[in-house]
This record gives sequence, structure tokens and C-alpha cells, in this order.
Amino acid sequence: MSQALASFGFKDVDPAEKPRLVRGVFDSVARRYDLMNDVMSIGVHRVWKDIAAVRLNPQPGETIIDCAGGTGDMARRLARLADKARQRRGGPAARLIVLDYNEEMLGVGRARETAPEIVWGVGDAQALPLPDACADAFMIAFGIRNVADIAKALAEARRVLKPGGRFVCLEFSKPVTEALAGAYDAYSFKLIPRIGQWIAGDREAYQYLVESIRRFPDQATFAGLMREAGFGRVAWSNLTGGVAAVHQGWALSAP
Ligand SMILES: C[S@@+](CC[C@H](N)C(=O)[O-])C[C@H]1O[C@@H](n2cnc3c(N)ncnc32)[C@H](O)[C@@H]1O
Repeated sequence: MSQALASFGFKDVDPAEKPRLVRGVFDSVARRYDLMNDVMSIGVHRVWKDIAAVRLNPQPGETIIDCAGGTGDMARRLARLADKARQRRGGPAARLIVLDYNEEMLGVGRARETAPEIVWGVGDAQALPLPDACADAFMIAFGIRNVADIAKALAEARRVLKPGGRFVCLEFSKPVTEALAGAYDAYSFKLIPRIGQWIAGDREAYQYLVESIRRFPDQATFAGLMREAGFGRVAWSNLTGGVAAVHQGWALSAP
């Protein structure tokens, strides 16, 4: 029975209910989302995102998906990197597709100064509104732990990648030492919900975020899920002692 349930923070809920619950969280925090990330991580999330963007290695002329892309913070980085490569080597602009199922988050992103090569669309990571083998590269940053069925989201990423396509996932993960895990637990359970209340006016939303991080599979388990979805040459790097991890894999054949 418990296998049929999805996690919503520390609660187990009907998988059909999870999208509505998660959408409520991001509706509530959308306008303060990027500011909250800066405050909660003391700016470190920017470094993590820079590392993940470089790992994806966006190139001129490529079609690149930023799934669960929210306000487009990652897509803007990817567009900048592709553009730098284009200035060095020439070629057409890359095309960035930001997909998210939350229109509030997309709306905040669209309203910001945005690169012309970024297109925005509403879409569910578990049922992408895209044809098979249409993308050269796929990024999902701090998104996959929010989906009800991680295996389904990975299978969708694999489906839309061309043979040779790259997949990168940036996500909170499991600290590698007991001391760091203890300090991180104290910080995240005691302080983050309070900061969430103070800045975004929503303690519950940030309580959910902290709990959802603890329920997310550790590095090796997530790498196993990637392999099961059909990704090859799967590897990961720990960031800040495993507080986050960047996983990468390749679509080595047709979906
Ligand atoms: C923590 S935010 C990350 C946003 C962005 N990737 C970043 O790194 O700043 C998580 C995002 O995942 C989106 N999301 C959650 N479940 C989703 C799903 N099933 N399909 C698409 N987007 C989803 C939320 O709406 C939210 O914008």
C-alpha cells in the first residue's frame, strides 16, 4: 500500500494529490523564490547552478530543455554559456525551452529581463509536451524531488533526448559526513522555516521544502534510478559536502 503513495514532505499522500499540493507551495513563494534561495543558501546556490550549467556544456544551435525551470534562473545561465561559445566559434543561437507546470513561477521569470532565445511553456515533467528525441541537452535543477513519480520524470527526460544527448540534474542530496549532516539538519529544520515565514510569508512552504529534501533518494540511489531510466555513463559530483549533488548521464541510443 505504502508503495502506491507519494511523499509530500514527511507526509505520504495520494500521488494524484501531490501536484496540487506542490503547486500550492510554489504559487505561494513564486515572487520571493529567488530572493529566498539567496538568503537560505547565503548565495551558494548560485555557485551550484554555475557548476551544473557548465556540466551541461550548452552549445550554439542546440535545443536545451530546462525542466521544472521555474523563474528561469538556470535557463539564463545556460543561454549565457551557449552565447559565449557562439561568440568564440560562431553558429546559430541555442534554443532554451523552460517548462514548468506552475504558471506563477513562469510568470515571474517571463517578467524579468530575459534572453530572446528562451521560450517558456507550461508542462509537466512526468508527461512532457514534446516529441521524442527533440533535445540535445536536458537540465532539471531542484525540480525532480517535487514530482510525484521520479522514475516517470526520468523516463520522459530520456524520451525527449536525441541519441548522444546530455542529462544533468542538480538536486539537494545527502551530506557525506555525520558532522555536516547534524549541522545541516539543525540549520534547515530550525532556521529555514523561520526565514521562509520572514521573507516569503509562508513557513509551511519552507517546512515542506526541508522535508522533501530529506525524503529524496541519496546520490547512489538516484544514480541507480537514472540507469534504470536508460541513461548511460551515469556519474555525480557532491557539492558542499553532499548538501547538493549534480548528477549527469547520457542518452547513448535512440529512446
Ligand atoms: C525549487 S523550484 C526550482 C526552479 C528552478 N529550476 C531553479 O533551480 O531555480 C521547483 C520547480 O519545480 C516545479 N515543478 C514541480 N513539480 C513539477 C512537475 N511535475 N512538472 C513541472 N514542474 C514542476 C515547480 O513549479 C517549481 O517551479
